[in-house]
Amino acid sequence: MKIIPGNHSLGATVHDLDLSQPLTDSGHQAVVMALASHGVLRFPDQSLTARQQFDFSGRFGTLEENVAGMFQEPGLPQVMVLSNIIRDGKPVGIADAGQGWHTDMSYSATVAYANVLYALEVPQRDGRPLGSTQFADMVAAYESLPEAIKRRIAGRTATHDFAKFWDMMRRERNSARPALTDTQRRTKPPVSHPLVLIHPVSGARALYANPGYAMWIDGMDRAESDDLLDFLFRHQTESRFIYTFEWARGDVLMWDNLRTIHQALADYRADEPRLIKRCQVMADRVLHEGRTDRHALAAH
Ligand code: OGA
Ligand code: MN
Repeated sequence: MKIIPGNHSLGATVHDLDLSQPLTDSGHQAVVMALASHGVLRFPDQSLTARQQFDFSGRFGTLEENVAGMFQEPGLPQVMVLSNIIRDGKPVGIADAGQGWHTDMSYSATVAYANVLYALEVPQRDGRPLGSTQFADMVAAYESLPEAIKRRIAGRTATHDFAKFWDMMRRERNSARPALTDTQRRTKPPVSHPLVLIHPVSGARALYANPGYAMWIDGMDRAESDDLLDFLFRHQTESRFIYTFEWARGDVLMWDNLRTIHQALADYRADEPRLIKRCQVMADRVLHEGRTDRHALAAH
């Protein structure tokens, strides 16, 4: 396998690795190291069944069964379909996933390590790909914080809530997604995580907050928390941290949710089809192999 970095702190292309084949231990280790170095990995020209995507993703940790509970691959609920395609009058996937800055599963007690997305259809216009995914580098964002802010967030945790993003999409973006049920809300109650993580593989400090799910900073006066989160949200989405990934059909994109936030760009029309399958990998295995428990993630 050959790893070609891009010209941003995030992003590298991995050639000569066929993800439909079982990953060897050394291949697995090489991907873990490459992901820690580059944050976002593109594996071009793949051809995968849902089962093969599941098997590859599952090497890195337990796969999440998304609480949305819809648009799951038959027999493989951990593989979820993202798409604007309507077939026989029915949507084949969730049409507006991730259209706003967020980190997958920051709302879960066990946060996400990685996402693995596989593009089957990429919208095009005038020969250019649309529906890009943007990433912001939270190691770079943390490093460039003013020292006074680093001191204010040191040792702090923030509360994250799955419902924040979902409810926002319905309220502000006219999303067709159904209202969350009480059972779904109970399945994902708000959780707290450190605002600064020590990455279990690279050891780097990363800012762990995101506009999609972070509600408040725990134990801080609410007005002060709102102001500080507002500052962090604006800081972490500054253009200097952003890497825009343009999809090609057959790409598998794997990214590190401990080091990045991301958003999907909704710049394509309903008649420009996009079809992507997604696995969400929990940070259980990577934490177990890196340190002893998830509290080791907290930076003090
Ligand atoms: C996601 C997500 C981005 C995209 O699947 O977690 O945010 O570009 N999707 O589809
Ligand atoms: Mn996402």
